[in-house]
Amino acid sequence: MALTRAILSCCVFLVLLAMSKSALIGKSHSKGKSNPVLQYVVNNSVRENEVMEKLRLKTMEDPWNIMMVPPEQTQFMANLVRLIKANKTIEIGMYTGYNTLSMALTIPADGKVVACEIEQKYVDIGKPYFKEAGVEDKIDIRLQPALQTLEELLDAGEAETFDFIFIDADKINYDNYYEKSLRLVRTGGIIAIDNVLWSGKVVAPEEDDITSQTLDKLNKKLHSDNRIDLSMLTIGDGLTLAFKRHL
Ligand SMILES: C[S@@+](CC[C@H](N)C(=O)[O-])C[C@H]1O[C@@H](n2cnc3c(N)ncnc32)[C@H](O)[C@@H]1O
Ligand SMILES: *[C@@H]1O[C@H](CO)[C@@H](O)[C@H](O)[C@H]1NC(C)=O
Ligand SMILES: *[C@@H]1O[C@H](CO)[C@@H](O)[C@H](O)[C@H]1NC(C)=O
Repeated sequence: MALTRAILSCCVFLVLLAMSKSALIGKSHSKGKSNPVLQYVVNNSVRENEVMEKLRLKTMEDPWNIMMVPPEQTQFMANLVRLIKANKTIEIGMYTGYNTLSMALTIPADGKVVACEIEQKYVDIGKPYFKEAGVEDKIDIRLQPALQTLEELLDAGEAETFDFIFIDADKINYDNYYEKSLRLVRTGGIIAIDNVLWSGKVVAPEEDDITSQTLDKLNKKLHSDNRIDLSMLTIGDGLTLAFKRHL
């Protein structure tokens, strides 16, 4: 009787553990639970670093966890960073640092991630995990509006020295971030822009929906921008990759 109960509670615990893990991975992309194909993709491709997993689970305790980049997208961007042998990268909108940590783990020992964030409380959540993963020295956190940081980097003569820039902060400033990033990134470097589909609302932006309008306008601008090659991917909430051309 006692043994049966022990086995039973053990089973319940394991089921709960499995559920919480998969649900959380899925939740990170909200559609995960209701989208079996996406769940299949996550189940069969995500390879998550141990500290990354800890940071993701910690981030799930935050009410704004929907902002976190989903693991399958973070992993895709890490593969891009590796592919182009990126050394210097920028994260515009760090939140708790899930993607920042991923990039720091991917770049070489002498590489650098400039991480832009305005909320101290999010930085405080992420920092211990950067340390635990042994990459804190590669991450240069700038706690101030991202535009100011990008301007400072330009003023410091760092134009055309970055390999990969991820834009994921306040959508209203996206065009400014894009223009500054285009100056900071090297030829052949990549600017990745998140949330370009805005849950599909960019297809027919409502009159009072400034965010959707802003993103739609930027999407259309990039389509005919001959300074870049581009791809718009349906991964996550929509991810545009802009590859800087020889000018
Ligand atoms: C969608 S979240 C970023 C998610 C993050 N890339 C990740 O990997 O989980 C957007 C973040 O941008 C920050 N943010 C908003 N406005 C900003 C600004 N002007 N400058 C810097 N960060 C800003 C927010 O505080 C928030 O943490
Ligand atoms: C994904 O993995 C979870 C946990 O192992 C499992 O419950 C679920 O059925 C899997 N879904 C797919 C589509 O592979
Ligand atoms: C990588 O970037 C650092 C600055 O963050 C620089 O000192 C170093 O020379 C770079 N390495 C390569 C191989 O470009």
